[in-house]
Amino acid sequence: MTAGAPAQRGVPLWQLLCPVTDIVAGVLAGQSYAVLADRVAPPLRAGAQALSFTVLRGWGRARALRGLLAPGTPPPLVDALLCSALALLWEGTSYPAHTVVDQCVRCARSRRATQHQAGFVNACLRQFLRRREALQSQTEEVETACWNHPQWWIDLLRQDWPQHWQALLHASVRPAPMVLRRNRRRIDQPSFLASLQALGIDAHPAGDAAVVLDAHQPVVGLPGFGKGWFSVQDLGAQRAIPLLLQGDFHPRRVLDACAAPGGKTTHLLEWLDAEVMALDIDPQRCARVRDNLDRLGLHATVLCADALDPTAWWNGQPFDAIMLDAPCTGSGVVRRHPDIPWLKRLQDVQTLSQVQACLLDALWPLLRPGGRLLYATCSVFRAEGSDRIDAFVATHPDACPMPAPGHWLPGVPSSMQSWGDDMAALNDAPWGHDGFFYAVLRKVAQGAGA
Ligand SMILES: C[S@@+](CC[C@H](N)C(=O)[O-])C[C@H]1O[C@@H](n2cnc3c(N)ncnc32)[C@H](O)[C@@H]1O
Repeated sequence: MTAGAPAQRGVPLWQLLCPVTDIVAGVLAGQSYAVLADRVAPPLRAGAQALSFTVLRGWGRARALRGLLAPGTPPPLVDALLCSALALLWEGTSYPAHTVVDQCVRCARSRRATQHQAGFVNACLRQFLRRREALQSQTEEVETACWNHPQWWIDLLRQDWPQHWQALLHASVRPAPMVLRRNRRRIDQPSFLASLQALGIDAHPAGDAAVVLDAHQPVVGLPGFGKGWFSVQDLGAQRAIPLLLQGDFHPRRVLDACAAPGGKTTHLLEWLDAEVMALDIDPQRCARVRDNLDRLGLHATVLCADALDPTAWWNGQPFDAIMLDAPCTGSGVVRRHPDIPWLKRLQDVQTLSQVQACLLDALWPLLRPGGRLLYATCSVFRAEGSDRIDAFVATHPDACPMPAPGHWLPGVPSSMQSWGDDMAALNDAPWGHDGFFYAVLRKVAQGAGA
């Protein structure tokens, strides 16, 4: 295994293991990583993130190992600490194994919730080091251990993608690169690449506007951040606007119905001059849309409102285009958010797919005949993609599907072959892409043919 989490200089591992334990226990109790990470003291945040991502990517195996070492479930914080150490020992870090054990015990002793279990943690970890190979073969048959995802997730992927479920799971536990989207209004691609090179940042162009970095960097340290030269956006997400605008489509009035933090709103405005209403239900996330528009030198009307209730905010004037980047499980972006599989439940897939159906129904009447609706989710589950759109088209005779990739699956090279050479090439690129579903629906006048 490669070293998943590098050591953070100057901070002892046990001090990092305390927030890692809190993060992992919090995720398992239903809190998102982003909220939990905000509570970590800033000097520890980067190190705690690196370690907790390694731990979450190895969580299935760690839990299975803990089950073999200590069959009764320990209290949540003890369990989180013990499993975190097992994941680090299994996945590999730049810390030697004996350091991981020693520092884990020290972390246990340092906190009231775990101090009485320090001996138990120590015994389990030392037993693991002694019996590693035997334990490995015992977990070999356990799917959640081999794939590091919950059983319901594995089962759903196998049902949805009988040919591809293994590749999808494999792609999900690999870290994602940092990808930038150049602001075409502010800088050209050669100048942008040269500015990165001048700072010694290794970067690769991917198509006309995307740039993939060899290593993650603090965004404010990259050239031109304050001048609005770029945004951070995965290659998968960068396909949305070209798809909507395919075939020389130039909408004048556009609704981005679930806009925050503004990745697709700003991408659209970098491509064309349009009157854009960027709507989101979350006030804090609306503030991020405004910040991003300002930084990139773009303009849109940002509105904090519920897309499910257009009567509260729509003036009755139809839109030429609607973007619906709907709330979803995020099953396509696990490589960037390894908490997602352990946070979500099977019931969430059903609940979110109903919300997606309601959003489509609520927004479709706002589109003018001849206009287009782009439907996107960053999910690889059919319930949030192809099933959703098939059901919508079956009940809306004025919705005509246009060419679109459908499910764009990470780790599955063939998934984009039928959709143009540049997308096939991106799909085969070594850095891969997040998983997305894209559909474009054209509204035909009632009574007119498709
Ligand atoms: C997948 S994110 C959108 C990402 C965004 N399009 C981008 O490219 O940066 C989904 C967004 O939908 C918003 N949302 C969820 N339910 C909503 C609703 N009923 N009305 C409006 N926005 C909603 C969430 O707050 C969230 O910001």
